[in-house]
Amino acid sequence: MEIEIVEVVKRESWEGADLLAVFGVRKKEKVSFDAAGDSLLAPLMPSAVLSDFEAKAGESLFFYPLESEQGKSSPAKRMLLGGLGKSADREEQDNCAELLRLAGGNIAASCATGKIKNLALMIPQVKGLKADFFAEHLLEGLLLGLYRFTKYKNEKKEEKKDTIPATVRLLAEKTTSSLRKAVSRAENAARAANIARNMANEPGNGWTPSDFARFGKKVARRKHVSCNVLDKSAMKRLGLGGILGVNQGSHEAPKLVIVDYCPEKYNKTVLLVGKGITFDSGGVSLKPGAGMEDMKYDMCGGAAVLSALDAVAIEQPGVRVIGLVPSTDNMAGGGALKPGDIITHYGGITSEIENTDAEGRLILADALAYGIAQFEPDCVIDLATLTGAVIIGLGHHRTGILSNDDDLCDSLVAAGSRAGEPQWRLPLGKEYEKQIESKVADVKNTGGRPAGTITAAEYLHKFVGKTPWAHLDIAGTAWDFTEKSYVPKGPSGIGTRTLIEFIRGL
Ligand code: BES
Ligand code: MN
Ligand code: ZN
Repeated sequence: MEIEIVEVVKRESWEGADLLAVFGVRKKEKVSFDAAGDSLLAPLMPSAVLSDFEAKAGESLFFYPLESEQGKSSPAKRMLLGGLGKSADREEQDNCAELLRLAGGNIAASCATGKIKNLALMIPQVKGLKADFFAEHLLEGLLLGLYRFTKYKNEKKEEKKDTIPATVRLLAEKTTSSLRKAVSRAENAARAANIARNMANEPGNGWTPSDFARFGKKVARRKHVSCNVLDKSAMKRLGLGGILGVNQGSHEAPKLVIVDYCPEKYNKTVLLVGKGITFDSGGVSLKPGAGMEDMKYDMCGGAAVLSALDAVAIEQPGVRVIGLVPSTDNMAGGGALKPGDIITHYGGITSEIENTDAEGRLILADALAYGIAQFEPDCVIDLATLTGAVIIGLGHHRTGILSNDDDLCDSLVAAGSRAGEPQWRLPLGKEYEKQIESKVADVKNTGGRPAGTITAAEYLHKFVGKTPWAHLDIAGTAWDFTEKSYVPKGPSGIGTRTLIEFIRGL
């Protein structure tokens, strides 16, 4: 797909679009399109369209314009009107960004017929709504909304090509370099989130720890990026007892994928860690059969980390960003961990295994401790589909965030809000820590049913020391996230764009 910016006055350069999207606002109960839009549109609209469309925030109306009236012919075969509401709806930036992404998702849905080869998007000239801001978020929503996963459906492969327009033209008052940058930001963020969705959509036999390693090596082809993959023998040498323990019941080789984006000049180092369980059967503490297939998504934290790193490597900011993905599946083979077993993590902390299904924290503990010792980051952020309890607490609408540092936590929550990926902070505390005390080891890997998300975070807390750290429990949001026009059923790609936004904001 090709994205171009063209000047709206050069009508001959975009005339004949298969679909033209135009946006209207409400001014004192009256619908208004911008200057270009008003003169262009009025003659083309069937009167019923004019009476039906109210330009409410989020409204969208598809119609076929009149072929020719008053000597003017329509510049497009189909039209989609989008509502931007009143100025109060747009005042709050994050709110407005989300409104635009949703509008982009609606446009994507209109492309599902497969007949839209040339798409034209009119950037409205509305006071208080910058062209860059508009284009970035509309396009982001469009690109995220066009996402399909049809790889394993023979008859659908062709269909997919059709639902993606060959060219998208942004009709702007002026082409500026800042508008071009806004377009790149949207392309980059959406592309990365769609990569994360692809990884997650792959089944347990289609995306293994070795696939994470291969992806890491691919990212390392970009400037200032290197990738190092620790295999089983390296893990034994270093004493990564958590990853090795979880891997014991599996035939699939474990990997610790390390991707390091290290620019020539930087004054901050950020460590990102993502849970990469490519399938979670629960191990010997086997999960119930119903719904177990969903546990192929237990690698969404790892997907977010590596896809975000790929985007960061394209944008080349002056911050060092290191991504770590501990990866294995959690199986119940003959050599598997058993309840009661004791393992030793990287750095020496011992852990009593009460339930082999609490495996995420075991692999994350090693990665956190190793990453902090190795790279001495200024802060560390981990993302994991860690607990079912977070779904009980926050549903599928918010990611749970737990942190030992208010500033880090606040900036992540703000980045998530800008990205349309809301979070909610849960507390840490001594009372919760007590729930994971073990009689025989330094810690045990479960804290009972109460506050399951918090006790899991307290487990991780033991491995980060004083380093500013935030843990995002994405079990509720990584798939079946809040229904939105630009979020498909299944994997949402959550976390990728929050991380990109966070890094952009540093
Ligand atoms: N991957 C699961 C968490 C999960 C559950 C994610 C449901 C998405 C949907 C994790 O490994 C797990 O099994 N956690 C257990 C922990 C318990 C045994 C302490 C859980 O939440 O039940
Ligand atoms: Mn589990
Ligand atoms: Zn798991």
